[in-house]
Amino acid sequence: MKRDRGWIPEATDLQWIDEAAAPLGPVLLDMEAVATRKSIPIVDRESGRALAALAAGRRRIVEVGTAIGYSTLWLAMGQAPGGTIVTIDPDTTRTERARAWWRDAGVIDERVIQVTAKALDAFAAGERALEGPFDMAFVDALKDEYQAYVDALVPRLAPGALLIADNVLWSGRVSGARPSERDDVDTEALRAFDRALLRDNRFVATILPVGDGLLVAGYRG
Ligand SMILES: C[S@@+](CC[C@H](N)C(=O)[O-])C[C@H]1O[C@@H](n2cnc3c(N)ncnc32)[C@H](O)[C@@H]1O
Repeated sequence: MKRDRGWIPEATDLQWIDEAAAPLGPVLLDMEAVATRKSIPIVDRESGRALAALAAGRRRIVEVGTAIGYSTLWLAMGQAPGGTIVTIDPDTTRTERARAWWRDAGVIDERVIQVTAKALDAFAAGERALEGPFDMAFVDALKDEYQAYVDALVPRLAPGALLIADNVLWSGRVSGARPSERDDVDTEALRAFDRALLRDNRFVATILPVGDGLLVAGYRG
């Protein structure tokens, strides 16, 4: 049955949120500008805000896909100052500047541990930094590996942990709202991933239509 949404947030709504919320700060703005200039994919600002809110009270966070560290910074800003984040990315050309930005934003070095490796290799190798339990995991790397990341993450999650994944609506290609002219492999993988997670009894999951779609799943443990 086709459902009438009634209202879909517009640019004006997003701008209103920006104005109502505390100013973004120069570091996040600089990161956004660099990501745009260099065509580096990062989460939408609204997804960043959601990540920060969901990170509140989470002591140990693991992130798959650092890039320039934009989502990492949102997570760090939401998390209590005593918390830590382990973030994985094999591409040092993207991650090399992240630490300086985090410092500029007031995040001390001890809080963020960078793992320079392909995530599945690092999990399989038993990388020490990736030992659980984590109380939040954020997945934002290769779309056709999302299910494998979750399979590796589940034994490392604490009961009640939050699992978040970005791009799960894939600009409308997952639902078919937009034709899938490219990335068919990724579209199919994301569609299968979404279906599996939304029906996975180990989680209570939903998809928030924020940014490119954020899957939010609470781990029952
Ligand atoms: C969409 S970007 C991450 C954006 C970042 N989360 C943000 O919003 O600021 C995806 C990142 O995944 C990284 N990546 C690619 N293959 C990977 C792998 N096998 N394991 C972990 N990260 C990978 C890429 O280098 C890229 O920086």
